[in-house]
Amino acid sequence: MGETVRFGISMDEELLESFDRLIEQKGYANRSEAIRDLIRAAQVELDWEEGEKEGVGTVTLVYNHHVRDLSDKLTEHQHAHHDQIVSALHVHLDAHNCLEVLVVRGKVRDVRRIADELIGVKGVKHGKLVMTTTGEGLH
Ligand code: NI
Repeated sequence: MGETVRFGISMDEELLESFDRLIEQKGYANRSEAIRDLIRAAQVELDWEEGEKEGVGTVTLVYNHHVRDLSDKLTEHQHAHHDQIVSALHVHLDAHNCLEVLVVRGKVRDVRRIADELIGVKGVKHGKLVMTTTGEGLH
């Protein structure tokens, strides 16, 4: 981490008021912490635009395990990408529905593709990729 630098920001009064409301809603301690988080979020988003960068994401899937071949297909996908899928959590939600959360790490292009493949398997009721960061290069 570098040295802490103080700087001033000029902005429209109403924009600042809405920012302060956001800070309160989100429970930030102060404006500085909120701004730091916004910058980090923008940086992570930017990183995900570069296919070659290393990223990490979580893929959440909800599906009915009674659907024919569905569990097998999802397991097959996971084995095919065992190098990138570093962890998996399975919860039996009820008698029929399963929740899976997979942690996928690799080039962001590959992480996106793996997530799309899994979410796109027929019978998956809901799927979402949350793109985050390895933390490297982010201060
Ligand atoms: Ni289950």
